[in-house]
Amino acid sequence: MTSPELPILVTCGLPYANGPCHIGHLRTYVPADIYVRGLKKLGKDPIFICGSDSHGTPIVVNAEERGTTPTELVTRYHDHFDDVFRRMGVEFDYFGNTEDPSNHIRTQSIVRTLMDEGHVYPQEIRLAYCSSCDRFLPDRYVEGTCPYCKSPARGDECDQGCGRHLEPGEIEEPVCKVCGSEAEYRTQKHYFFRLSAFSDFLIGYLEGLGGTSNARNYALEWVKQELKDWCITRNLDWGVKFPGSEDLVVYVWVDAPIGYISFTEEWARRANGDWERYWRKPSRIVHFIGGDIVYHHCIFWPAMLKGAGYTLPSAVVASGMLKIDNKTFSKSRGYVVWVIDDYLEKGLHPDLLRYYLASYTSHTKELNFSWSVFGEKVNGELVGALGNFVNRAVTFTTKNFDRSVPDGDIDPEVTTKIEATLVEVKEALAEYEFKKMVDGAMSLADYGNTYFQSNEPWKLAKSDRARCGAVLRNCLLIAKALAIVLQPVMPEKMESAWRQLGLPGTAAEALFEDGLVAIEAGRKLGAPEHIFSKMDESMVSDLDEIFRARIAAIEEKKGKKKGEEKMSTITFEEFKRLDIRIGEVLTAERIKGSDKLLRLIVDIGSEERQIVAGIAMTHSPEDLVGRRIVVLANLEPAKLFGVESQGMLLAADLDDSAVLLGPEKAVPQGTRIR
Ligand code: 2FM
Ligand code: ZN
Repeated sequence: MTSPELPILVTCGLPYANGPCHIGHLRTYVPADIYVRGLKKLGKDPIFICGSDSHGTPIVVNAEERGTTPTELVTRYHDHFDDVFRRMGVEFDYFGNTEDPSNHIRTQSIVRTLMDEGHVYPQEIRLAYCSSCDRFLPDRYVEGTCPYCKSPARGDECDQGCGRHLEPGEIEEPVCKVCGSEAEYRTQKHYFFRLSAFSDFLIGYLEGLGGTSNARNYALEWVKQELKDWCITRNLDWGVKFPGSEDLVVYVWVDAPIGYISFTEEWARRANGDWERYWRKPSRIVHFIGGDIVYHHCIFWPAMLKGAGYTLPSAVVASGMLKIDNKTFSKSRGYVVWVIDDYLEKGLHPDLLRYYLASYTSHTKELNFSWSVFGEKVNGELVGALGNFVNRAVTFTTKNFDRSVPDGDIDPEVTTKIEATLVEVKEALAEYEFKKMVDGAMSLADYGNTYFQSNEPWKLAKSDRARCGAVLRNCLLIAKALAIVLQPVMPEKMESAWRQLGLPGTAAEALFEDGLVAIEAGRKLGAPEHIFSKMDESMVSDLDEIFRARIAAIEEKKGKKKGEEKMSTITFEEFKRLDIRIGEVLTAERIKGSDKLLRLIVDIGSEERQIVAGIAMTHSPEDLVGRRIVVLANLEPAKLFGVESQGMLLAADLDDSAVLLGPEKAVPQGTRIR
């Protein structure tokens, strides 16, 4: 699967040190850890690197809101992630921090090289400036309107509308997030990375990029469109100083991926390794990332590495979306599982969640987490199939052969089944298909149960003791092979199986091929114990209850907030200034390029108006034509997606979908609402 001579470096996207670890993080880190453990089983010697991402405006804003410093905040969450990863069995060779001096030094060195090579240039740009705070407003410090879709947006991202990344200076009607004042635009010199010059290089690079096709294909689509140069400086104190400037730091997306290099340097310093083997010479670098940061890893990052003369990543593996209880993952709405509070502190074993994450679906597909499926998987697959088989093999041998592995030949069909399993598992690993890997292993567990059952060793114990011993030796070999192929997924649980089988060393040290080597006759088994325990229904429903109670509490709080909003009053004079009327929809059509907006022509009695409404997700144009609706006719016109909206259609806001208002009985268009 990999060239043996190339050193292998595996990384995981760096978590922001800005909040606790949740199941969404693990969707990337657990499979990456499985991959690294799998490589070791192939006899490779990969290093596994990660660390916390400590810079960027969200961290500064969060620290300010909590009345603490960014240093205190990131130290706390750095330690938190380090702790959670250890407890979840995600074993990095080094877990760094982008605030560490080595990352500042490496980032400045790379930026200087990019400047020397002409890949970075200065340019005067317009930036939001708050005169009452007397400062420029980078990224999250500014809120306003998206220039593309006119939705409310943050400085660096249209997070409520079209989702576009916004460059500094693009946001319209900027308002300072700190003091709420209207911001103005001022010009200042910033620095840009000439990304546009890397298009041809990137097309070639991406065509040969390994990893999952979702990453490669998304990135190729973007590159084939026009690439814009990136502004790589920000007006902040917190971050890596831009070389030669006192006021500017580099954009967080410059120094964060450089963390992959500086953490390798830190690892090398401690482990007496050589970081340049990975980053300056041919190597195999594999990045595991969330599907939302493909652009940064497949476009910006390789262009930067190319420009500065570092080794390019060989593969980018992007995980698919996560749902919780069939709803889109959302921390603010409560559709989240916090790894410490909701999982580990409830006494649940890390390997069960690791198994769930690996086995639910393909790495690039949508994964749904629910406590009921969790319970079913534990009880059906782990307790019922895997645990049951290992326990039967060990217990039966213990009782009937005085805890010693009996003598006897290995059946050819058993060897064939294990061989086929190993082939499947290795192929799956090479394709980053962790579900396929688990399915292969679990089919061996099913085979083991069938083998045990059909050979009826309990009868053979009386009628043919030699054959009974041989059957058990075969079963113990299957159990050993299972411990080996599943060790990357459930490292602790499989060590328990290993100990029960009385094997020397650890399951972690064993290679895949050792799964074909029968346990020598006469070896003493360890004490039998159940590897997994059943989750009873009340346990599953208690966990589910905690989850639902949290969602209900959030919804109630939101409901109260809405109620509070209604409390603010306006005068009757103010109300009379609203020109609200009945209108009739004459035509309706989708707006090209937007999946949310419809363009309506509405007869409001005195005239026809063009109205742009964000209802395309809930209403089809055909259903609207001829409908009587309620229109706010004297709202100041605004352009949405380049189309002028001359009024607003009124609708009830129900769970993020719009329910259109209309008259109780036939009313002529143009009728005023009082
Ligand atoms: O999106 C994120 O969570 C970033 N903190 C990931 C950074 S990955 C890398 F580039 F450093
Ligand atoms: Zn937008």
